[in-house]
Amino acid sequence: MQKQLTATCNNLIDKLRKEEKLTYEEYLFLIKNKDLCKEYLYKNSRQVCDSIYGKKIYIRGLIEFTNYCKNDCLYCGIRRSNKNADRYRLTKEQIIDCADQGYELGFRTFVLQGGEDLFFTDEILEEILKEIKSRHPDCAITLSIGERSFESYKKLKQAGADRYLLRHETATKSHYEKLHPEEMSFDNRVNCLHELKELGYQVGAGFMVGSPYQTEENLAAELLFLKELQPHMVGIGPFVPHKDTPFKDKLQGTVDMTLFMLGLIRLTLPHVLLPATTALGTIDPLGREKGINAGANVLMPNLSPTNVRKKYMLYDNKICTGDEAAQCIECLKQRVSKTGCEIVVDRGDYKN
Ligand code: 5AD
Ligand code: FES
Repeated sequence: MQKQLTATCNNLIDKLRKEEKLTYEEYLFLIKNKDLCKEYLYKNSRQVCDSIYGKKIYIRGLIEFTNYCKNDCLYCGIRRSNKNADRYRLTKEQIIDCADQGYELGFRTFVLQGGEDLFFTDEILEEILKEIKSRHPDCAITLSIGERSFESYKKLKQAGADRYLLRHETATKSHYEKLHPEEMSFDNRVNCLHELKELGYQVGAGFMVGSPYQTEENLAAELLFLKELQPHMVGIGPFVPHKDTPFKDKLQGTVDMTLFMLGLIRLTLPHVLLPATTALGTIDPLGREKGINAGANVLMPNLSPTNVRKKYMLYDNKICTGDEAAQCIECLKQRVSKTGCEIVVDRGDYKN
């Protein structure tokens, strides 16, 4: 019986590798039977990644430049209702300094990430983008600053932003509404992703694995959503509860399901840039290495000044926020080499 099930799963994985998509029912079947076929999936998903990107692991320098946020996502540690969050904003000079230091360390992509902070107007962001671009014309700049207007996205693109990360958080509207306050809209979020694509950004979507109320059916729906959206990047990581949020007592997502979703995403969108996220490294000391073995090819180490890192706490126990954080990149290089892959000095553009 079990042999039969395993054979069925492996056949579906072969089909997915060949056709780069499955039906909703087929994805769901694999998710429900993940323990029977996960190793076979990872073998295939890692091979597919190798066939396109080789053994290269791209690094993105993450600059968390503000933890002010006007939103109130129920899962997030920097939600506006969290009165215990110690708020900070980096100055333009500090942000540019992070990028300069990152460049010296070998980073060729910078991710400017922040809460939805109205202090950072288009004008201020445009200045920062132009300055980083003029100092480091060979670098790509990624923004990750939430929902903005089409006009704003357009101006920021013209000022030098190349890419944009905006996780959709869940592809199921009714689920989205359980994770967010009423004033936030699933349709608007998805619309932002379409606008970003239309403007020519390389776009990253993504979701949390094991977020409260998520079902296996929701996870199957993620794969259809991603197949249709065709993002250049997909950021996924386990949900990790934060003590000062309404979800403080909810269960954490699992390493296993996160890895399984990474593998399925790699086979569904073979060319996608796929990070092994900090959240995955937080719930398992070898999480990022396992992510790479399941088909991830991007790491996003922190470049924020060490004195603010503990303040950008989206979830509890986030790694690389202590005194040792400055050496993160050396430590990562060693860890990655143990997987047989290698961190490279490269913008890591999407390969068609
Ligand atoms: N656990 C895991 N990931 C989280 N994020 C926010 N809060 C949490 C949490 N508690 C993720 C969201 C967001 C990204 C920047 O961090 O997916 O888009
Ligand atoms: Fe800031 Fe979700 S709490 S965008």
